[in-house]
Amino acid sequence: MRLTILFNFCFVLLLSVNNGELINKKFPEDFFFGVATAAYQIEGGWDADGKGESVWDRWVHTRPYMVLNQDNGDVACDSYHKYLEDVEMLKHLGANHYRFSLSWSRILPTGYVNQVNQPGVDYYKNLISALKENGIEPYVTLYHWDLPQPLQDIGGWTNPLLVDYFADYARLVFSLFGDEVKNWMTFNEPKQPCMNGYAYAIIPPGYVTNGIGNYWCAHTIIKAHAKAYHIYDEEFRATQNGRVSIVIDSVWYEPASDSDQDKEAAERKIQFDYGWYANAIYHPDGNYPQVMIDRIAERSKKEGFSKSRLPEFTPEEIEYIKGTFDFLCLNTYTTNLVQWTEDAEIGFPSWEADASVVAYQDASWNSSASFWLKVVPWGIRKLLNWVDQNYDHPEIFITENGFSDTSELDDQDRINYHAEYLSNILQAMLEDGVNVTGYTAWSLLDNFEWTMGYSQKFGFYQVDFDSPNRTRTIKKSANYFKKIIETKCLVDTCED
Ligand code: NOJ
Repeated sequence: MRLTILFNFCFVLLLSVNNGELINKKFPEDFFFGVATAAYQIEGGWDADGKGESVWDRWVHTRPYMVLNQDNGDVACDSYHKYLEDVEMLKHLGANHYRFSLSWSRILPTGYVNQVNQPGVDYYKNLISALKENGIEPYVTLYHWDLPQPLQDIGGWTNPLLVDYFADYARLVFSLFGDEVKNWMTFNEPKQPCMNGYAYAIIPPGYVTNGIGNYWCAHTIIKAHAKAYHIYDEEFRATQNGRVSIVIDSVWYEPASDSDQDKEAAERKIQFDYGWYANAIYHPDGNYPQVMIDRIAERSKKEGFSKSRLPEFTPEEIEYIKGTFDFLCLNTYTTNLVQWTEDAEIGFPSWEADASVVAYQDASWNSSASFWLKVVPWGIRKLLNWVDQNYDHPEIFITENGFSDTSELDDQDRINYHAEYLSNILQAMLEDGVNVTGYTAWSLLDNFEWTMGYSQKFGFYQVDFDSPNRTRTIKKSANYFKKIIETKCLVDTCED
């Protein structure tokens, strides 16, 4: 007891020292707080019990040098075997929801629906039951970048056939888990595999097709999402009564100065980045942002292409895709400054040249262990306002937000990050009227951070990756987050 009082005292002291600016109002009682993970980053069991090979399995086994320290997700946090421990940790936090993803290859080893792997289905059934028994709502992502390799072998997301193969998979998982799962996300951050996998070749499939392949990747994914949404709507909604969305990520793009040119460049950048995926689904008019349609058509013509490198949606497709969301899921971590610049010379096509702006971060902003992640709490409030205004005041659920370090149990920087970002979210809600209903911290536990392997830690729990047990140890930030969930308050006492 005395220890608890001492702990609470230190905790309040630390917060008041570091976060003098936090808002002292409460989050609404029904606000959802939770944490997120993804299959390849935590599960391990890469070929256990009939699981098929995913593009990430193929990538790390054939090109191990593409990941820092040659790390891979073969074992990861071993959550395939230790998921009950994960549920215990979620219980300790008091999480209202747990966002995790399904490994498509664990359920369908070839990617195709004609061969179902029962042990894979059972794994997710057991995880979902354990969550429900503990009052934790599952938020389930169907695709967090681990495409079954056989589907890559036919071209991956540049092949329009994947719309139907994804739809088959979606129908299957809705029917298998939909009695228990009421919140579905089709894709996680599609921009990342489309850019890093089809333009920059730093993750699978390792294609260098910037300006063409990445646009087709996005096109197929947007259509696959819409098809899955319609399948839910027509075949499952009446009996299962859940909701479906897609997770799209964005940084906030702040004009580098007050000049009209920089403001125009910042708006163009967010349309080329977030709007590229979001507009067709969330905007009342649908389709790609007009600025993308116009600029890519014009540049394609000058480059000598017979038609725009940006694929076109037919009028029927625009109608079919528009509005395929029941709530808006947003991942965001940081902010960039944007400066106007002359249009890039006509030459090699690329998404960057198509947008032609300069984006950078202020060197004085606080850093994390990830080069791209600077701590800019005010950016999240501006982004929320932009999304609210551009997409007709949707319900917004934050599906990821978090901070990386290199492994501290006394992770005060993570505490500060979440506190300051949450404070800005609450201001967006209370002062700007943005309808935010949930916050999901990335991540429950340290895990495989893609090209950076295990070097960057985002978790509320540390994982000992050198131990065969993958021992989990609680960090200070976990107890901070637990207290927020309990009190709905970021400081020691909040106004009611
Ligand atoms: C976004 C991704 O969804 C997740 O997989 C990744 O680990 C985090 N951001 C941190 O980079």
